[in-house]
Amino acid sequence: MKTIYFIGFMGSGKSTIGQAYADRYDKTYVDTDSFIEAFHEQKISDIFKHSGESTFRIFESEALEKVSNFEVVSTGGGIVENLKNLHMMQKNGIIIYLHASFDEIAVRLSSDQTRPLWNNNVEEKNALYNRRIALYREHADYIVDTDQKTVDDIVQEIEKHLIIE
Ligand code: S3P
Repeated sequence: MKTIYFIGFMGSGKSTIGQAYADRYDKTYVDTDSFIEAFHEQKISDIFKHSGESTFRIFESEALEKVSNFEVVSTGGGIVENLKNLHMMQKNGIIIYLHASFDEIAVRLSSDQTRPLWNNNVEEKNALYNRRIALYREHADYIVDTDQKTVDDIVQEIEKHLIIE
């Protein structure tokens, strides 16, 4: 069995789409951020605040290893910060990059208070976005554009890609 991994920037819909895809095709599903929060009994924002981003990244890589038996996995936007994570996902499954434009993400996250890396000024957010999208694109097996599409449209598009796997 190959695990289907959803990657993409914060607010690109990885959790919504991962859950919808898993429900529709009756597959086991997990979100690495929820897994980390349950496993460490701490909110992501508290892990960043008390232990720093580098500790969070260690927890994230550990979580990715621990969820390798799930059929569908939604990852955190920074999963691509560690090459080891990318190689692990490439070896264990299929990577789908859910692309959303910066403007669309800015709208979706306009009132979000939960994401520590979305608290910077717009230039820093934009720089992070541009650096990350190059990594998502480079390592994805499939890229799905999500702007202006419904959850159903996206799930169907993913299925079309995966039918040939
Ligand atoms: C992060 C994205 C978040 C979460 C953490 C760090 C990032 O997940 O893992 O706040 O570095 O982009 P989402 O992509 O689900 O928002």
